[in-house]
Amino acid sequence: MSGSPGATGATPRRAAAEPGRDTRRGPVRIGAVVVAAGSGDRLGASTPKALVELRGRSLLAHTLAGLAAAGLPPAVVVHTPGAGAAFAAATGGLPVAALVPGGATRTASVAAGVAALDDDVEVVAVHDAARPLTPPGVIAAAVEAVPVGGDVLAAAPGIPVADTLKRTTRPAGDRTPTGGAVGGGAQAAVRGGGGDLPEVVATVDRTGMVGIQTPQVFTRRVLATALRAVAEGREATDDLALVEELRDAGRLTGRIVVVPGSVWSRKVTYRADLELLELLAAHADPGTLDPGGGQGGVPPAPGAAGPAGRGRDGGGGG
Ligand code: CTP
Ligand code: MG
Repeated sequence: MSGSPGATGATPRRAAAEPGRDTRRGPVRIGAVVVAAGSGDRLGASTPKALVELRGRSLLAHTLAGLAAAGLPPAVVVHTPGAGAAFAAATGGLPVAALVPGGATRTASVAAGVAALDDDVEVVAVHDAARPLTPPGVIAAAVEAVPVGGDVLAAAPGIPVADTLKRTTRPAGDRTPTGGAVGGGAQAAVRGGGGDLPEVVATVDRTGMVGIQTPQVFTRRVLATALRAVAEGREATDDLALVEELRDAGRLTGRIVVVPGSVWSRKVTYRADLELLELLAAHADPGTLDPGGGQGGVPPAPGAAGPAGRGRDGGGGG
């Protein structure tokens, strides 16, 4: 059970105590926003996704524990509207800065969370509640990559794409065939002899391709600019994409960087993701899974924050 909660293989980096240190001005105030207001349609659970349990703890509690172990102060949690009390009861006893209701889109939820941060927060880490096992080292590395006063606009963890990439005529669909043999589930998925299956248009060069995870970290100034752009009607698939768009339009100048992500940071989207994370947490040997040795590990249990401690700059209170 080397991967069980509490038996972390990822010693939170000591440096996590110092993320965001600005060489010109001393410690920087970090804020964390956990977005958990989605409907969880694809998981299909009877409760909001963040309240679903993994090894006896809510996804939300796991996520908060990971942030705390990385040395971040208590997070603003953006919850499903109308479910504030249930979310408050599902934090696993960990402090939060605030609980606020989310919006109809992820970006609207991020905006609601950012609005609830203390005014003096200068660097913001936006993290999906649906990534319960993100290693503290990954979180700390993303935060450390965004010093105030530098040329980095934003940072996020990424993992190399291993599969060959093909552009197809349309999405291949959400259903994974589960039957093991021709004539079983697999055949059910290709009913019609392939007539309604997507077609390959081209092979996409995989060089430099990464799958982006969270936390996505920004200086508050940059994130505020990006969120204002949303208010102007711009759309983007993730928070980083908003910043890319503004950079490409010449409205922001600087680098958007990628730090090493982790297979532990898999997002719970479908039932299978939850089951995979259960298996990972129960059986995998942390630190042996990611390319290059990785930073894998299960965040420690509540109250077992690493050496970086919590509430670096006081946090936002309980
Ligand atoms: N999220 C949010 N507010 C929204 C939509 C999403 O806070 N309006 C959050 C989710 O709670 C989740 C993260 O963004 O932690 C990533 O989104 P996703 O995995 O797509 O979760 P859901 O939107 O809840 O799931 P689904 O798309 O299957 O409904
Ligand atoms: Mg969604």
